[in-house]
Amino acid sequence: MPRCERSKVTVIGAGNVGANVAQRLVEKELCDVTLVDVVEGLPQGKALDLLESGPLQDYDSFLMGSNNYEASEGSDIIVVTAGLARKPGMSRDDLLLKNAAIVQDVIQNAARHSPYAIILMVSNPLDAMCHVAMATSRFPRERVVGMAGVLDSARLRTFIAQELEVSVESTQAFVLGGHGDTMVPMVRYSTVGGIPITELLPPEKIDALIQRTREGGAEIVKLLKTGSAFYAPSAAVAEMVESILHDEKKILPRAALLRGEFGINELFIGVPVKLGCRGVEEVIQISLTTEERAALQKSAASVQELVDVLKKNGFLKP
Ligand code: NAI
Ligand code: 2OP
Repeated sequence: MPRCERSKVTVIGAGNVGANVAQRLVEKELCDVTLVDVVEGLPQGKALDLLESGPLQDYDSFLMGSNNYEASEGSDIIVVTAGLARKPGMSRDDLLLKNAAIVQDVIQNAARHSPYAIILMVSNPLDAMCHVAMATSRFPRERVVGMAGVLDSARLRTFIAQELEVSVESTQAFVLGGHGDTMVPMVRYSTVGGIPITELLPPEKIDALIQRTREGGAEIVKLLKTGSAFYAPSAAVAEMVESILHDEKKILPRAALLRGEFGINELFIGVPVKLGCRGVEEVIQISLTTEERAALQKSAASVQELVDVLKKNGFLKP
């Protein structure tokens, strides 16, 4: 007998990123969506509003909103966007302890109701929050992933396309490392129509694009003044959800727990990963130059600092 089940994704946090993730998922008819938030009425109102868009946008996905986790029962993917967003002058790391408490709470509840789900973390500081999610859920490392590299890579692709006045579709780029100022945009692997950007742009232009990518999140925060980016982040989440639900096995840069790969142990950090229905199906190990390896180690050290603070504050086992 065919299984008449539709995929179900719960998005926790119905704020800017969460609501836009819900919209992108249903507009692609990827799954039904449950929105969960602590604010009374907020997830219900946004879910209903999106549901009522279905007849106009031609989608049949079902949405519901709730303030409790029973509604998330049996989800295939849990997307966690709950938490505080960055305000001007606030670094991602300032968010650490406040968001750790929120993430611990939501994961405890969500994992209980969806023990076989894949957790897709978005809340910042991203790599550190992945640690909290894994420790709290006790899910295997294949089923805890973080979204950042897809976003950072999309930003780099945008800047390359703008600089060269070419279609973004011709660009390829990826960014390794933690989602912070130490991220490692990979120039050697950034191409336009298959041509390395080093053939198309002078070094000082490339350096400027890399710097802008590293500061991509802060650039938007500075412009918006009251919060951080959400259109591109939600698009990045949708790309990852699609790769999982359709078992596309896309190679995407995203935070995964490394156990020796790239010489890094027991740390979540952005690396290229094959993403399919089982979650992290493979960490793709590429060779790095001495310079790239040093940059990745520096980035890992900055994630490790946050992990150590979390350990000191009882969020992770010492
Ligand atoms: P937002 O403030 O618009 O939404 C956050 C929502 O979380 C709010 O609706 C709030 O009520 C809810 N929330 C707070 N505590 C909760 C709890 N205990 N249970 C359930 N819901 C709770 O913020 P926005 O812009 O949606 O950002 C969300 C998070 O995503 C932030 O931490 C932000 O820094 C992060 N982010 C990460 C990105 C990445 O690349 N990994 C990109 C963009 C944002
Ligand atoms: C971003 O990069 C705030 O992490 C978020 O836009």
